Amino acid sequence: MVNFGIAFATLLALLPTILASPALSRPFYWFSFGDSYTQTGFNITTGPLPSSGNPMGNPAYPGDTATPGENWIDVATTKYNHSLVLTYNFGYSGATVSRDIVPPFADFVRTLPDQIDELVAWNMAQHPQPWESSNALFSIWIGINDIDLSYALDVDHTALTNQLITRYFQYIQRLVDLGGRNFLFLNVPPLDRTPGLLVQNTTVRASEARIITYYNAQLAAGVYKFKSSHNGVQTWQYDAHAAFTQVLDHPEQYGFNNITGDDGTTPGQFWYNWLHPVSAAQVIFGKEVGELLDNAPW
Ligand SMILES: *[C@@H]1O[C@H](CO)[C@@H](O)[C@H](O)[C@H]1NC(C)=O
Ligand SMILES: *[C@@H]1O[C@H](CO)[C@@H](O)[C@H](O)[C@H]1NC(C)=O
Ligand SMILES: *[C@@H]1O[C@H](CO)[C@@H](O)[C@H](O)[C@H]1NC(C)=O
Ligand SMILES: *[C@@H]1O[C@H](CO)[C@@H](O)[C@H](O)[C@H]1NC(C)=O
Repeated sequence: MVNFGIAFATLLALLPTILASPALSRPFYWFSFGDSYTQTGFNITTGPLPSSGNPMGNPAYPGDTATPGENWIDVATTKYNHSLVLTYNFGYSGATVSRDIVPPFADFVRTLPDQIDELVAWNMAQHPQPWESSNALFSIWIGINDIDLSYALDVDHTALTNQLITRYFQYIQRLVDLGGRNFLFLNVPPLDRTPGLLVQNTTVRASEARIITYYNAQLAAGVYKFKSSHNGVQTWQYDAHAAFTQVLDHPEQYGFNNITGDDGTTPGQFWYNWLHPVSAAQVIFGKEVGELLDNAPW
């Protein structure tokens, strides 16, 4: 009886701590899909898998990012998170929506369906599955390479974009079938302002800008349609296009003094290379994503 009393008292003393920290007992799972803007080099086969104390699993934080340092999902997971978030990041450099529509720059690149296949295969081998619909978020940031690889082609860009967006939501349906109910969508930034495009003439840049505007509008319309046709699905949208534009239009407010250079080393530069922002810019976007997800169920 005495021992029981002591154990009970200990439990009572601990109760406020336990109640105040639901995250400790119930992590939130984040399954992320994307390209180099998102990639951290995570490998679900080799492990280690994400865990408390190592929330992005492998490789060692901040991972194999496209530009040296943390990227948006690193900081959204570990710094601007609202609970313990375990991030399974399938983002792969060079990824496109689908290799039969816009082939990636190399065959080995894992496109969106390849990334989803990896999650599905892993998930099928889990008994029991560690996550539930209510404590999992699925994010998709893709389209950058599709546009970068196709904007200069002499094709019907409206038709191409329509095809990409239709396929995109067919793949999202696979995630719904898997149990996904919480979705974060990120759109395509103003690639016409990347150093790779600044060397082109204004006609080319304006043409790419129009393709991006149309892609983003179709994506937003697709998200609206997706949400209204799926009961119980919640969506968040991060307007990466607006976020990049805001920083590029007011670089000094964000600690940058050069939005055209891309030598990758000079402090104050926004771009690291022809297509990618530096880590300091990625961190700004990751913080905003964390704030956007404030009302997510975590
Ligand atoms: C993960 O590692 C395995 C074993 O080395 C390899 O076969 C596979 O291609 C890797 N996956 C990714 C996404 O790099
Ligand atoms: C955010 O993630 C970090 C790293 O996993 C963790 O130490 C911290 O407790 C988390 N924050 C909250 C509010 O749970
Ligand atoms: C702009 O560049 C493209 C591609 O290099 C070229 O085909 C086009 O003629 C150029 N237009 C003008 C107005 O210089
Ligand atoms: C930006 O940096 C590049 C070097 O990458 C340099 O050539 C250019 O003059 C700089 N622009 C400004 C406005 O400082």
